Amino acid sequence: AAAARGTADLAGLRILLSAGGTREPLDPVRFLGNRSSGKQGVALAEAALSRGATVTLVTAHLEVPVPGGAEIHPVETAEQLRTEMNALLGGADIVIMAAAVADYRPREVAEGKIKKDATGDVLTLELVKNPDILAELAANRAPGQVVVGFAAETAGSREELLELGRTKAARKRADYLVVNRVGWTEGFATDGNTVVVLDGAGHIVIEATGSKLSVAHSILNVLAEAGRSNHQ
Ligand code: CTP
Ligand code: CA
Repeated sequence: AAAARGTADLAGLRILLSAGGTREPLDPVRFLGNRSSGKQGVALAEAALSRGATVTLVTAHLEVPVPGGAEIHPVETAEQLRTEMNALLGGADIVIMAAAVADYRPREVAEGKIKKDATGDVLTLELVKNPDILAELAANRAPGQVVVGFAAETAGSREELLELGRTKAARKRADYLVVNRVGWTEGFATDGNTVVVLDGAGHIVIEATGSKLSVAHSILNVLAEAGRSNHQ
């Protein structure tokens, strides 16, 4: 289907979206982060707004400006993102987890700055696993709510990428998983993207390549269809 730009085909649809990369504090001046720019999530918000949707955007660290017209809820850590998403879940028709969530956080956050004189030549950090927000949202969704995840994979081939995506789709139990390849030079902070959208059973729904905005429109085309069939 052609991208439905310039039409209000998503009017009345409430989209809850997370974007950016979470930051897990080590001490008052340091954090563990990731290379997510938030560009694909923000592009989704912009595309959805331009098509008439109501967008609630939960933002972890972003390298790009937030779009005008969205309700913004800023967060830092995975735990804060989880709290915010769960609080907002009830008011959403579609939930999209585009944020890059830290898989682990430091077990302890130092009250004061960690000093190198006190730690020696090697510093060992103990990390604990963060909760899987997407899996939790998918488990808690009401009938008719559509839950969408992203999967960032460093796959060597298309086959491996699809295999990793299918395994993740099965584990997350989301309605859709947007799979894209990432690497040292791919995926982050770039203006373009290539994605494969899988359904909950791991079947390919669409593939899209182009600017992050055009990829966003392609993803929304799938969700517009899903939203319509749910409301029938
Ligand atoms: N995600 C989440 N909570 C986490 C980790 C990830 O909600 N603690 C979400 C991301 O926002 C994304 C999806 O799960 O929508 C997949 O994230 P990804 O990092 O690709 O998968 P993981 O399950 O974390 O597995 P791994 O990083 O080991 O590949
Ligand atoms: Ca992860």
